[in-house]
Amino acid sequence: MSAVIAFCASVAATAPLKTAAPPLRAADLSAGAADKTDVLTIFLTGHELGAMKPCGCSGGQLGGLDRRPAVLNRVPRQRRLVIDTGSLVAGDGEQDLLKFSTIMQAFRLPSLGYDLVNMTADDLDKAFNLGLLSDPSSTPRIISGHKRPEVNVRASFSKSFGLESGKLAVTVAALDVESCSIEQTEQVFARKSDIPVFNMLILNRCDPEISASVLKELPMVDCLVCPADSDEPRLISEPDARPLVFSVGRFGKYVNRLRIGLTGTPGKLQVEYAPVDVNETLKPDSSLANLYRAYQLLVKEQRLLEKYPRSSLPSGLRYAGSKSCKSCHEYNYEIWSTKPHARAYATLVEVGSEYDPECVVCHVVGMKYYGGFISPEQTPNLKDVGCENCHGPGSEHNGNLGYAPTTEPKQNCTDCHTPEHSARYAGKKQEYLEKIDHWTEPKARSDVK
Ligand code: HEC
Ligand code: HEC
Ligand code: HEC
Ligand code: HEC
Repeated sequence: MSAVIAFCASVAATAPLKTAAPPLRAADLSAGAADKTDVLTIFLTGHELGAMKPCGCSGGQLGGLDRRPAVLNRVPRQRRLVIDTGSLVAGDGEQDLLKFSTIMQAFRLPSLGYDLVNMTADDLDKAFNLGLLSDPSSTPRIISGHKRPEVNVRASFSKSFGLESGKLAVTVAALDVESCSIEQTEQVFARKSDIPVFNMLILNRCDPEISASVLKELPMVDCLVCPADSDEPRLISEPDARPLVFSVGRFGKYVNRLRIGLTGTPGKLQVEYAPVDVNETLKPDSSLANLYRAYQLLVKEQRLLEKYPRSSLPSGLRYAGSKSCKSCHEYNYEIWSTKPHARAYATLVEVGSEYDPECVVCHVVGMKYYGGFISPEQTPNLKDVGCENCHGPGSEHNGNLGYAPTTEPKQNCTDCHTPEHSARYAGKKQEYLEKIDHWTEPKARSDVK
């Protein structure tokens, strides 16, 4: 415990690092900017938080494991090191575990070929429960700064590379500051080497004071990687500073690229950092697309839709389905049925996510409630964004010949049209409302009933 005090006491004394820097512009991946034969490239990802593929709800979304190979494979395997810094999923439910093992499988596929995964305390728990830690020599190698007595996971990793003008070694260590094992980390970095070494430290917590004090005690660190606090990667130090300090960004929207070159001067390496965006122009890899398909099938098999947490509707109301409104509101029904809301479930079928609760919740009626959508087999009348998404459960209104008022506020658009899922919606509410107009019945026109 004395180490804790000694280490933590030094925290307050040191000057904080710069906290806010604007995200860098994504690097140019076009020809020429890609691979150089005398450079080692380290790719870093992390903080996927369960994001394996953008939902596709609106255009221009970044990310997707299946597009990562297009970034990584620009550099031949012998001159690159691919690392994930951890926090693979966001929670510990059944679907999170399924995602966790899927992401680990993705890292093992030859088209991604990860060398190393750093695991946070939460990652380590899941990996242990899923039996992923039994073989310490399996790829990708796993390190963790967090100690669990029953598992034998190291806190560091080293590998050396032969570049055109000489050899270069990389040492990666993980430090969980809560356990304050800074002396062990120091030993890892202090190992003698007769070739140049690039020392990288992955921290589990990174407020400016912690990182400053860690760096003070570990002056040999060339690069410090902090947990993500924003979707974009963030360069925390000055671009040319040593050590370079950055965070990796969230949801796999970017891959962080470090290029390390030998300079000829002993002890001096040239380091260049740039985030690369994983955008829609990158060609998806088929083995990862297949893995995602297999994941979708497992989601279906595990009947996750039926296990979705639900609450009770107020005062015994029930959903009746959009068809039940048709007899009395024929005009409104006909208009609705020609609009995208009425095919929202079909959209999910097209992309194979029709059994995935993370998608279905916004593409059907009432999934968060008892009596709402359960599955296409059990509740076919509640597929799609129906009348009752906006007008509330219809049982009472229907049962009183329409004289009981409908229940919900009608302009709840932002429940589903969130910035992430409907990037075009912001500032366009009126336009969106006009597009779903099913209420201004053009009575003057004789061709419409
Ligand atoms: C048996 C016929 C009938 C059925 C079925 C019916 N309605 Fe109505 N609805 C009416 C009548 C009649 C009115 C007008 C009541 C009034 O003016 O007070 C009305 C009014 C409304 C209104 C406007 C007034 C308000 O309370 O907001 C909405 C919205 C509405 N209905 C939605 C629905 C929906 C959604 C369904 C299906 C779940 C549905 N209705 C089913 C007959 C019906
Ligand atoms: C928070 C609610 C929400 C969730 C969760 C959600 N969606 Fe959507 N989705 C929407 C909205 C809203 C739109 C319409 C966006 C627009 O046009 O502005 C949409 C549109 C789409 C479209 C495009 C339809 C088209 O024709 O352009 C696809 C495909 C889609 N969603 C698939 C998915 C998948 C797959 C998932 C799960 C991974 C998912 N959605 C999860 C709300 C959601
Ligand atoms: C995406 C949300 C949404 C869906 C889905 C939807 N409505 Fe509406 N509805 C509205 C809004 C918003 C209004 C306009 C309210 C206003 O401006 O007064 C409206 C208006 C109406 C009105 C006229 C109410 C009045 O007071 O004049 C009726 C009737 C109605 N809807 C029935 C339906 C029926 C039937 C369906 C399904 C076939 C349906 N709506 C689907 C949001 C929705
Ligand atoms: C329960 C979730 C939900 C709610 C609430 C909701 N929407 Fe949607 N909306 C969707 C989904 C999902 C889609 C995509 C449908 C598809 O194409 O598959 C969509 C699509 C749309 C589209 C078509 C977009 C395009 O460019 O083609 C419009 C317009 C729209 N919604 C307007 C509205 C308005 C206005 C409201 C509020 C009155 C609203 N929505 C409420 C889920 C919702």
